[in-house]
Amino acid sequence: TQDKPWGGRFSQPTDKFVEEFTASVSFDQRLAPYDIQGSIAHARMLHKIGVLTEAECRAIVSGLQRILDEIEGGEFQWSVALEDVHMNIEARLTELIGDAGKKLHTARSRNDQVATDIRLWLRDEIDRILAELTRLQTALLDLAEREADTIMPGFTHLQVAQPVTFGHHLLAWFEMLQRDRERLLDCRRRVNVMPLGAAALAGTPYPIDRFYTAGLLGFERPAANSLDAVSDRDFAIEFAACASLILMHLSRFSEELVLWTSAQFDFVELPDAFCTGSSIMPQKKNPDVPELVRGKSGRVFGHLMGLLTLMKAQPLAYNKDNQEDKEPLFDAVDTVRACLRAFADMMPHVRPKRERMKAAARQGFATATDLADYLVRKGVPFRDAHEIVGKAVRQAMEAGCDLAELPLAALQALCPAIGEDVYEVLTLEGSVAARRHYGGTAPERVRQAVEEARARLAQL
Ligand code: ARG
Repeated sequence: TQDKPWGGRFSQPTDKFVEEFTASVSFDQRLAPYDIQGSIAHARMLHKIGVLTEAECRAIVSGLQRILDEIEGGEFQWSVALEDVHMNIEARLTELIGDAGKKLHTARSRNDQVATDIRLWLRDEIDRILAELTRLQTALLDLAEREADTIMPGFTHLQVAQPVTFGHHLLAWFEMLQRDRERLLDCRRRVNVMPLGAAALAGTPYPIDRFYTAGLLGFERPAANSLDAVSDRDFAIEFAACASLILMHLSRFSEELVLWTSAQFDFVELPDAFCTGSSIMPQKKNPDVPELVRGKSGRVFGHLMGLLTLMKAQPLAYNKDNQEDKEPLFDAVDTVRACLRAFADMMPHVRPKRERMKAAARQGFATATDLADYLVRKGVPFRDAHEIVGKAVRQAMEAGCDLAELPLAALQALCPAIGEDVYEVLTLEGSVAARRHYGGTAPERVRQAVEEARARLAQL
């Protein structure tokens, strides 16, 4: 009743449990700096259109700035009875500056206010996530440049397929993250639209200037429809989808690092500072960071599903259901940023074991396709070449040697077109160097691709 900003029409106090149950202040206080930023812009607009006097506007702005200091200094008294971040701040403002504080909520509702706060907050968070992405992508490019000549087995079905360069493999990760970056930037455009002015749902009779407020807050434009502005959270879902794709990519990346650090692969060494040991097995060094990132993808996918389900079948316009948007969104943001940060910090210290990678590429007949292509160049149809090489592989398996170790006579018995020059195509270096077309794995092409990628990264 009395103690609530909306108490006028109530004759009973709120049930204590319901008060706790319906409050969001425990988590939405995180939005406070954005709530204050939005309120300051709103007050300036109200002054511009003559609803607030110069003095009232000034009192509101300095009161809000003081509240921000109190919050940042940890002195602000948050009250569950005041339900959410918006009413906590408004109540404190009135306490500090008196009646002018009560005028701030003119031409506004918590419905457009909260939607505005989340968008301002998410816009900043997207920028922070993009900065972490940039760090990780840059680290990948640096490593790809250093490892342009390093040969490793490429896999399909996790079976050795064809030799590739490690630099090329790293650039595959770069490309995935580059698409993630484009998606985030695109999502940001739709986040950057201002709900403020929609009020509860129908707009307001005051002659508000939404374009002015939008300009103050750095929004691209005000939302075009008041009902839509306060009720949809598709921007949050879209962000969660972008975050999910990032985590999906990082989980693949993680899986490879986990495999590669095993004794069986032994392709890379992770820095000790990013691993932990076992409390029982003294020899262990576990790749915790990639494992945890792989695991955290699950919670972000969950948030995407949670938000979709939250919005499904909600009638227009605002419903209290929407209060449930924050925790999954906050956690998705924190998780994706932390995972990117961990990878960006770790990547410059990942040490490739070049000899091990190359030795692994020598196993599994990785240059068999090169032999088939060689036969094609000698005029053998590809299908026949495939069959001939299959036989050569079987002979090598039986002899326990590599294709390059089969004697020329044995190869010529399979196909007379084979000459002494066959041994050049059977080497790993020859195999990768031959794939020098755009998008290929040849060291020279990888070096060009790194340059091109640096330019694309700088553009976005
Ligand atoms: N705490 C609310 C939320 O998170 C703010 C908007 C409340 N609006 C309302 N009419 N109850 O969505």
